[in-house]
Amino acid sequence: MQRLLEPIEVTKEQEKPFPQIQASEEKRVRYELVGREFMIATDHPLASQAGVEVWKQGGNVVDVFTAASFAISVLRPQSTGLFGGGFAIVYLPKKGKWAYDFRERSPKKGTAAYYLKPDGSPDTDKILRGAYSAGVPGNVQGILKIQKQHGKLAISDVLAPAIRYAKNGFAVYADLGNAVAKVWPQMNPSMQKVFGIDNRPIREGELLVQEELFQTLNRILENEEKEWVDGETVNRVTEYYKEYDQFLSEEDWKEYQVKQVDPLITSVWGYQLMTMPPPSSGVHMVTMMQMYAEMAKRKTFPKGLVGETIQITEAMRVAYRDRANLGGDPKYTDVPVAKLTDSHYIQEEVNEIEKKVVSGNWKTIPKGGEPKDSYNTTHISVMDKEGNAVSSTQSINGIFGAVQMVPGTGLVLNNTMDDFSIAPGVPNLYGLVGSKANAIAPGKTPLSSMSPTILLESNGNTKLVIGAPGGSQIPTSIFNTLYHYLLQKRNLYESVSFPRIHHQYQPDILFLDPELKGYFPETELPFYQVQYGRHRAKVFVVSKEGDKLVGVSDPKGEGVPLGF
Ligand code: DON
Repeated sequence: MQRLLEPIEVTKEQEKPFPQIQASEEKRVRYELVGREFMIATDHPLASQAGVEVWKQGGNVVDVFTAASFAISVLRPQSTGLFGGGFAIVYLPKKGKWAYDFRERSPKKGTAAYYLKPDGSPDTDKILRGAYSAGVPGNVQGILKIQKQHGKLAISDVLAPAIRYAKNGFAVYADLGNAVAKVWPQMNPSMQKVFGIDNRPIREGELLVQEELFQTLNRILENEEKEWVDGETVNRVTEYYKEYDQFLSEEDWKEYQVKQVDPLITSVWGYQLMTMPPPSSGVHMVTMMQMYAEMAKRKTFPKGLVGETIQITEAMRVAYRDRANLGGDPKYTDVPVAKLTDSHYIQEEVNEIEKKVVSGNWKTIPKGGEPKDSYNTTHISVMDKEGNAVSSTQSINGIFGAVQMVPGTGLVLNNTMDDFSIAPGVPNLYGLVGSKANAIAPGKTPLSSMSPTILLESNGNTKLVIGAPGGSQIPTSIFNTLYHYLLQKRNLYESVSFPRIHHQYQPDILFLDPELKGYFPETELPFYQVQYGRHRAKVFVVSKEGDKLVGVSDPKGEGVPLGF
């Protein structure tokens, strides 16, 4: 059976590595910036501005990251917040490199049994919305710990912009207005009070003031991380959970620990790639990149646009298969990081793909769930001229997380319990499936797609800081951007903007950005189920080019890079 070989006979035009699809020059003025001293890229102009403000006060990149993190929690409550969690990679060339996991943990009461219906089937609504979908939050503890370890400024300086944005308010922008309108009916009364005017959803252009969040930030300013251990905020959350079986208890807050680990560092595509180890998906992104590099070396694989698409797709498929089968909290399950990035493993996996390509024998795998539309989570990339850098992705998971606010706090609950695999093979919000490795257990951290990354040159100089929100599409957005920037030699803005390719193993669908339509042969990759649609992830990146720093905030988003 030679099914695959036919479409590979492509025309001269299709033999080109990739089509020349022009990125919008008009948008470039807003979404790209070149500086020399320091650069920050975020998903809201005022969050980037918060970074500039503390840099000008003598802060370092960690102070900039801290100010931007608290600010974005106020500015993008649909994406992240103090009741969320995240990861950060910090690289200070003269001091060292660190990876921080301050993601949500399953509360003591969090077990799979909690999410079963009386008939024993998984209750996918319960894990996705409402009080039981929240994990113990880590953002406040994590960000404060990093600032204490590496920052220069006082907490009052780095919290000041966030406090101001909460107190004075800011204009609701389109994405926030749409998010409020979308989930308005599910909000509890406390939440409708904050995000509503005259009992209707607040709209684009109106002023959003968050008085209770302002008070919570002030308590953090006063009591710092203690506020998150046994402070007034914890008391109010505990009070709220009385109605919900004390699913989150006082104990959970006391036991929460930020994890400080070594970043995962591997050599790939001519650089040292430093990313977040499990329970992040950084390792699977590395497998993906190494698989592509191995295929590109071999003669068996067709070249040209179709050939490149096959290689990229197959690399992604293997990486997401590994994620589904093996991914989880390394404290509870063995994620074989060394194996998944080992050249023998990569070669063996490529051999299998090679066989498939030559024989045309494409096994189809069961179709999983469709990823639902979701624009949330956020990423912050910062770099200065000395190469000091922070890459951090933070989230409350779905749009407005659990869509519940704890009365008297301004805090929107995360719905990160949905990042666990509720049962083997049952897809989550992003259509992702998982195995026992990512099953729910008390104290456990759910598997994450968030993959903050920093690239270094072989001499240790910082080349690039990158990351993205976008659920299951996070690793492939970083792959696509680096593919165009490092391998296809496009400029940074074009690389972020270029139409993307995404495959996540299940559902067994090749997702292509709509602009790619028409660039494939008539038969359009008949060996894949192709679906055209907008890639959801938004990339935020800063790169060093000679003595310049280039920042790009994804033109799909609301943010801008700022610096000088
Ligand atoms: O950690 C994860 O994988 C998810 N909670 C991330 C969610 C996300 O990026 C949503 N963005 N569209």
